[in-house]
Amino acid sequence: MTQEEKNSITLPKHIGVIMDGNGRWAKSRGLERSEGHKAGADTFRTICNYAADLGIEYMTFYAFSTENWKRPPKEVKAIMKIFRDYLDEANARQGENEQRGLKFHLIGEKSGLPGDIVSKMDTLEKGTSDKNVMTVNLAINYGGRDEILHSVKRIAAKVKDGSLKPGDITEDDISANLFTAGQPDPDIIIRPSGEYRLSNFMLWQAAYSEFWYSDVLWPDFTPDDLDRAIFDYSRRNRRYGGV
Ligand code: FPP
Repeated sequence: MTQEEKNSITLPKHIGVIMDGNGRWAKSRGLERSEGHKAGADTFRTICNYAADLGIEYMTFYAFSTENWKRPPKEVKAIMKIFRDYLDEANARQGENEQRGLKFHLIGEKSGLPGDIVSKMDTLEKGTSDKNVMTVNLAINYGGRDEILHSVKRIAAKVKDGSLKPGDITEDDISANLFTAGQPDPDIIIRPSGEYRLSNFMLWQAAYSEFWYSDVLWPDFTPDDLDRAIFDYSRRNRRYGGV
């Protein structure tokens, strides 16, 4: 996107991405599915850096759902290794994070994830907590329903200890107890690979999000595709239920 193009549009503040199509990408090349996930992780790096350079403030990447544990153990193991390698690499390049101003945040259930991944993620979250150019939410062991349940349980505990009355519970209370507490809802959700489902992604936060679909498989997704999504978004007229 040129500077002139950028000046002519309103950039979304928050973009959600459902990274889909890695398996098909690998199959079409006669490769193991894990090779597709590796290629998908490279695309994630590229898109993440490009979005930060563009000036997007929040990106949420759906990397592993609460349902993905049902995949063959070999594939799950390969995906966990990709996360480990990425987290090690991200922790090792503090200088570059600093320069880019990336703040990392895990959204998803930590319990249920391998302990070493949680601790690498904690290190990355702590090490980047003071950065303020772009927040990168990594949705790992994430489910939208699970997240709402988590929020409801936290609210129920406040009702139980008497600090909140049932009649006083508001939508803001639910938002404030999600993993994305304090962040704006996604303006646009991108799903490549020709699928047209939300697949349990940001169910609460997506209430007014614009959807953008593409047939491109995630490993083939480029900064130009992100530009296309942003240009389309900027032409849409969001009414939030009004006229
Ligand atoms: C969906 O494609 C993809 C996943 C379940 C895994 C996504 C993980 C990555 C892209 C790695 C991300 C890495 C980091 C470092 C955050 P699919 O396997 O469902 O594809 P298919 O529909 O073609 O089978």
